[in-house]
Amino acid sequence: MVIRYELQAECDGARAGLLHTPHGTFKTPMFMPVGTQATVKTLTPEELYAMGAQIILSNTYHLFLRPGEELIRQAGGLHAFMHWQQPILTDSGGFQVFSLGQMRKITEDGVTFRSHLDGSRKFLSPEVSMDVQMALNSDIAMAFDECIPYPSDYDYTSQSTARTSRWAQRCLQHHHSPTQGLFGIVQGGMYKDLRARSCAELVAMDFDGYGIGGLSVGEEKSLMYDILEYTVPLLPKHKARYLMGVGTPDCLLEGVARGVDMFDCVYPTRVARNGMAMTKTGRLTVRNAKYAADFVPIEENCDCYTCQNYTRAYIRHLFKAEELLAYRLVSIHNLHFLLHFMRDLRQSIVDGTFREFCRQFRRVYRDR
Ligand code: GUN
Ligand code: ZN
Repeated sequence: MVIRYELQAECDGARAGLLHTPHGTFKTPMFMPVGTQATVKTLTPEELYAMGAQIILSNTYHLFLRPGEELIRQAGGLHAFMHWQQPILTDSGGFQVFSLGQMRKITEDGVTFRSHLDGSRKFLSPEVSMDVQMALNSDIAMAFDECIPYPSDYDYTSQSTARTSRWAQRCLQHHHSPTQGLFGIVQGGMYKDLRARSCAELVAMDFDGYGIGGLSVGEEKSLMYDILEYTVPLLPKHKARYLMGVGTPDCLLEGVARGVDMFDCVYPTRVARNGMAMTKTGRLTVRNAKYAADFVPIEENCDCYTCQNYTRAYIRHLFKAEELLAYRLVSIHNLHFLLHFMRDLRQSIVDGTFREFCRQFRRVYRDR
């Protein structure tokens, strides 16, 4: 077994564990910073590691188009190419390619689309996605799926989910790597019977772990929590569950409370570049005029590099002047915040105080 999940503690539905991979072990629940272009924007691998990142995510779609998987294979794989020796998970392209809208055509065989870079014709399929991910040699590859839009009607969702299962089987058949595990991705939209069917079909295929896809696609949070609460118990206890594309503190907490082990999202780094800092009480727009002469850190008691050394007033100034350091400083704070949030969450599961942690969080956190 290339990938092994080890359960360490459970508390009110939440679980703490370890995920063993070819590039080492990481603690779950864990948030994976996103490095779409083989870089987590503005940060070096050393900085990421120092702030507690134990695994990062990268994207098949982007690296397939540029620089191409053969170049990365030549470099010795993605770890060597980008100088990150900890675990890497790659998404399959089954999400990015479906975000292209008009520019793509889906058949049973795969998806034909135009490159967003130069308009050239490209083709991704279960087999191509597996070949690309094996060339990248990430620790965890994801099956090639279809992430449908929200809302989608029952008929389309049913057909698409059935095809995602057939594609999952093709991924499994084509995938052969002694140094890479493969996760299936549950779909089924907002329909519980389709979620149940998807889980049953994928669990029977015996993947190394399971992504939960097709959520956080514009639905109400309460609906996402409801579908999640229904879906997670249908997955095996001895394998990792990964809620794809989720990364705000409230959603992470609610996901963990329902038994999820892994998350990824561009949220912390993307909002950072828009001058938005994440704090225990919610978002702080450091670009705002009201911080022009505010000579305190983004967040009091934060021990990140940014808060230890810079004020809101200075960071606001950097944003106004469009200085590159602005993006870096807020990215450092946001990732530090989220990774430490997950660490504290995990500790509360181990200590048996998860319920109290949730109560505290919900009392002070405001989502606006
Ligand atoms: N990222 C967020 N949601 C999804 C999904 O449904 N499928 C894939 N492959 N990636 C995702
Ligand atoms: Zn900070």
